[in-house]
Amino acid sequence: MSDRSRMSRMQTILYFLRGSKKWFALGVVCSLFVAFLDMIGPKIVQFTVDHILGSEEITSTMAGNALRIAGGREYLRTHLYIIALAVLVLALIAGMIRYLYRVFNSMGAERLIKRMRDELFVKIQHLPVRWHEKNHTGDIIQRCTSDVETIKNFLSEQLMSLFRVMILIGFGMYFMIGISGRLAVVSGVFIPIVILYSVFFHFKIAGAFLHADEEEGRLSAIAQENLTGVRVVRAFGREQYERKRFKDQNEGYTRMWIRLMGWLSAFWCSNDFITGLQIMLVTVLGAVFCVQGKITVGEYIAFSSYNGMLSWPVRELGRVISDMSKAGISVDRIRYIMNSECEDDVIKQSLASESAFGLPDKPLDISFEHVSFSYDGISDCIHDVSFNIPAGSTLGILGTTGSGKSTLMLLLDRLYELKDGKGTIRIGGRDIRELDRHELRRFIGLVLQEPFLFSGTIAENIAITKEGTPDMEMVRSAAKTAALDEAVVKFNDGYETYVGERGVTLSGGQKQRTAIAREIAADPPVMIFDDSLSAVDTETDMRIRHNLKETTGGSTVILISHRITTLMQADNIIVLDRGRVAEQGSHEELLKHNGIYRHIYDIQIAGADKDFIRQ
Ligand SMILES: Nc1ncnc2c1ncn2[C@@H]1O[C@H](COP(=O)(O)OP(=O)(O)OP(=O)(O)O)[C@@H](O)[C@H]1O
Ligand SMILES: [Mg+2]
Repeated sequence: MSDRSRMSRMQTILYFLRGSKKWFALGVVCSLFVAFLDMIGPKIVQFTVDHILGSEEITSTMAGNALRIAGGREYLRTHLYIIALAVLVLALIAGMIRYLYRVFNSMGAERLIKRMRDELFVKIQHLPVRWHEKNHTGDIIQRCTSDVETIKNFLSEQLMSLFRVMILIGFGMYFMIGISGRLAVVSGVFIPIVILYSVFFHFKIAGAFLHADEEEGRLSAIAQENLTGVRVVRAFGREQYERKRFKDQNEGYTRMWIRLMGWLSAFWCSNDFITGLQIMLVTVLGAVFCVQGKITVGEYIAFSSYNGMLSWPVRELGRVISDMSKAGISVDRIRYIMNSECEDDVIKQSLASESAFGLPDKPLDISFEHVSFSYDGISDCIHDVSFNIPAGSTLGILGTTGSGKSTLMLLLDRLYELKDGKGTIRIGGRDIRELDRHELRRFIGLVLQEPFLFSGTIAENIAITKEGTPDMEMVRSAAKTAALDEAVVKFNDGYETYVGERGVTLSGGQKQRTAIAREIAADPPVMIFDDSLSAVDTETDMRIRHNLKETTGGSTVILISHRITTLMQADNIIVLDRGRVAEQGSHEELLKHNGIYRHIYDIQIAGADKDFIRQ
């Protein structure tokens, strides 16, 4: 990804704020009103003490007029409840605006978090397989849950309170300066001290927060691995080892948080001490000024109220700034996902100079030309592989484990990209790198070696490529071809049986056959079955192949297997050996060749009923 398309922290925040900005802006407007209303209360008290209960002269014409309208000094002295009522009404209005603030803020926050989740999900879906291999699932989930939550809280709570505090400081200082400039300086001088202290602290602990987040990610990754691999853990008696692994990680994580909390506590305590000092100074100096007659009693009370009103929010400001470090780290962790290079970018780049090439709904010739590939960029696991698959033919691929069979198919499906100069894969004569990935993957159906079923019914899993409610006729027909129907009808709920997490667990063979049925239902022009019949018995294997031949019609079929019987009827068979094409030809040709294929044939077929197999 170019530097220009990478989002900075601020750009990331603004990007997610689209759609919720106006709600937060309304919240800020409400804060403005509330802060102003809050400032009027002490003013009323001051006025009451000095001009109604006391006999200070009224210099302001506005205050004089207000007093006249309210019935005059004498009247109010005997009807003090009117002043109390005025304070009550003010508090009620402020309460209502506070309520509106909450509503607007929640609207903004919920829209913001929804947008973040949606955007991240879409982004993660478009990130290459390589990216997913590099990043732990637990860590990705943590970024999409707790980091998203941290950012939401920061923007909707902390940042909003930052605005609130700024407004409050602005109004507070205005009213305090109106009472006594010198006292206001004493009070105000502490504000930058608290802010600077917080900023200093925030820089100091930013690294520790990042570390803590990473440790939490590691902890969730261990938990997540243990949940998904619960059977392996039990089967290999690894419980104690896993418990220790989790305990050690948890211990380290806890120790880190205890240390972090120690620093945070020290910061908060010292921050509170500075604020206490400020309140004490203002109280003492205010009393002195009052005794000296520089300010009235009412002004002293009002000033103390304003100072008290500001002391907590200023302390909060310190916390908000220190929380910025947490939010900043979370934004960086989300930016890591958002700035990762999507598969689509590569497509766009490769298509920039050429118009999109549409794939037809019928098979095309496929060719691998001098293909070499390495996962780690160091040693190749595929070496100079070349072969052709004519449209509508069946190709069999045989090879020892790790010889690169699956890799070839993953390359054809562009789940991994071929590097420049490392050969070309063509469909209908066009380099697959020029094709839209989405279209390519519609064109090629791949039944992976390890089938994965989604949480849902068997019917939903089979009809996954079709939108809307599954067409039961199509589902059953696909299941029959995959020799799955007879097993499914025996389930109590038949095709409505729930599978996947918290559902019925299908046997390995049933899972494979469900994946095969899914592919048949999708009916793509090219069908790849990567060792998809390994978990079914030879007889079922034969039946499925027989059915496939009848139903796949003109589709190109690629069969990968360790079993010669699965492949022997293919039009062409490739024998892979450590990433190289060792032999290729039809079954008969390969038998005559007397090479690896013949050797495997002799091992597998020796003693077996050859006539039965040849059916
Ligand atoms: N994601 C990966 N990252 C790094 N190396 C990989 C990855 N997947 C496979 N390999 C390596 O590439 C080589 C070829 O693997 P591949 O899965 O293509 O073999 P295969 O012929 O399909 O084997 P099998 O018959 O066991 O399925 C192996 O050495 C394997 O260790
Ligand atoms: Mg494989």
